[in-house]
Amino acid sequence: MNKIVSKEYFSDKVAKLVVEAPLIAKARKAGHFVIVRTKEKGERIPLTIASSDIDAGTITLVVQAVGKTSQELIDLNEGDFIQDVVGPLGKATHIEKYDNTVVCCGGGVGVAPLLPIVEAFHKAGNRVVVVLAARTKDLVILEDEMRKISDEVIIMTDDGSYGNKGLVTQGVEDVINREKVDLCVTIGPAIMMKFVSKLTEKYNVPTVASLNTIMVDGTGMCGACRITVGGKTKFVCVDGPEFDAHQVDFDEMLMRLNSYKELEK
Ligand code: FES
Repeated sequence: MNKIVSKEYFSDKVAKLVVEAPLIAKARKAGHFVIVRTKEKGERIPLTIASSDIDAGTITLVVQAVGKTSQELIDLNEGDFIQDVVGPLGKATHIEKYDNTVVCCGGGVGVAPLLPIVEAFHKAGNRVVVVLAARTKDLVILEDEMRKISDEVIIMTDDGSYGNKGLVTQGVEDVINREKVDLCVTIGPAIMMKFVSKLTEKYNVPTVASLNTIMVDGTGMCGACRITVGGKTKFVCVDGPEFDAHQVDFDEMLMRLNSYKELEK
């Protein structure tokens, strides 16, 4: 059982939970995730560790309510307990210092897991430009947090209600056209990552896609996170969550995700 030390809402559907987990706090690196269960027989959901405090023995999770379990989780309050938190899991993000800009772009459920990656690249001395995308102004999350840990934040909204009007790819392309970009990191819906990947391929910008949004049990057993990378079968939960975006078969991934949606219905 892990106690919730504090909780703060970013919006109706997104909350930040600080949770007691001293061992995970000590071991975690950017890119790692945990598997959380709200009750004993409940569903397990993977969540990226946004940050940790080794002295306090806590980890911070940013939870976006997208299903039953994530909703249950953000309905918990300070002082409540989470059934279990297992981790850190996955492979840590490969962080290095580049000569030129690192662009980190995210949308939807991808914004929270992007946070620790932005922070780690920035701490390593990189110039980091963040491109955040949302359908409309109210759905833009973690903007202030991103501003604190990056050099620039560009907001893109589909309807132009905030920041620039357009898709995430437009924001990324603008950056590529004005300065030299050495690396792009993308996290978000599969379709978004597919188009970011296509764009950066055109400009020969190495790109990492973090696919942790498509996991189910995270144990390497269920096969739900199976993807094809460079023609080889990989499991996101054990081989990832990060992969060379230009090698990922996004079309296959999208097809599989759609068939899950059918099943869920
Ligand atoms: S999430 Fe089940 S095998 Fe990876």
